[in-house]
Amino acid sequence: MTRHPSLAESRAFLRDTIRQQLDFSCTDQHQGVPRPPVEKPFPADAVRIDLPRPDEWHLGSLPDLPTLIAIRRSCRSFRDASLSLDELAFLLWATQGVHQTGTPNVFRTVPSAGCRHAFETYLCLFNVADLTPGFYRYLPLEHQLLWEFSETRVHAKLTAATLGQAFVARGAAVFFWTTVPYRMEWRYGLAAHRVILLDAGHVCQNLYLASTAIGAGTCAVAAYDQQAMDRLLRVDGQDEFTLYLAPVGKV
Ligand SMILES: Cc1cc2nc3c(=O)[nH]c(=O)nc-3n(C[C@H](O)[C@H](O)[C@H](O)COP(=O)(O)O)c2cc1C
Repeated sequence: MTRHPSLAESRAFLRDTIRQQLDFSCTDQHQGVPRPPVEKPFPADAVRIDLPRPDEWHLGSLPDLPTLIAIRRSCRSFRDASLSLDELAFLLWATQGVHQTGTPNVFRTVPSAGCRHAFETYLCLFNVADLTPGFYRYLPLEHQLLWEFSETRVHAKLTAATLGQAFVARGAAVFFWTTVPYRMEWRYGLAAHRVILLDAGHVCQNLYLASTAIGAGTCAVAAYDQQAMDRLLRVDGQDEFTLYLAPVGKV
């Protein structure tokens, strides 16, 4: 039987994670190890779908930022309505979009410690115009969707993996963020783990604001079964694992 740590043990683990001293002298970056890719590689013959770019979006008039900040709420019930491809592209851009390349650092619409951006974005699409339902991955560098796979009984599996939170599978799309810790560890060593968690908050907050802007809603979800979710996303659970997810639907 699995032995769960006590609260005190778990808190000590959190405290030790938070207080890891930054010691650049023993990081892989300092040792001259080549920097890891900023995006998980994909097979050359993978099916990829171009997403509309910011100057091509038709999103109508959007509320101003103070209004968006004021009205953002967690939404757990959604209308049975589709997202357009422009809307999906906007949400992906807002959460992980690249706006500057050309240096070793790839700057995105969200901040990240050391510009390491140790996340991958997976999507489970239920109702997005012109896209086959199933699992995809966002490719920020290409601003494309990568087709991953289709799954049977996906509503039931998603609900089970989120510990019975049935609303997660009732939106038009679910965003999942995995982390590839080495991308951050390469620069920060043991101090990477604190900043990976801090980085995740910015990403999801942008999803809240961008969803609200297009008349949709989202809800951050961190209550899930780690193994079941990693299995569902088909990630290895070691070098890459699920960290956070959020369904999006029209409200
Ligand atoms: C890190 C984090 C994890 C959360 N996990 C869940 C979750 O698993 N299920 C859920 O229904 N809401 C979850 N929430 C949403 C919170 O319950 C919600 O933000 C809170 O009740 C405040 O409501 P508001 O977002 O409408 O202001 C989470 C929020 C955060 C920031």
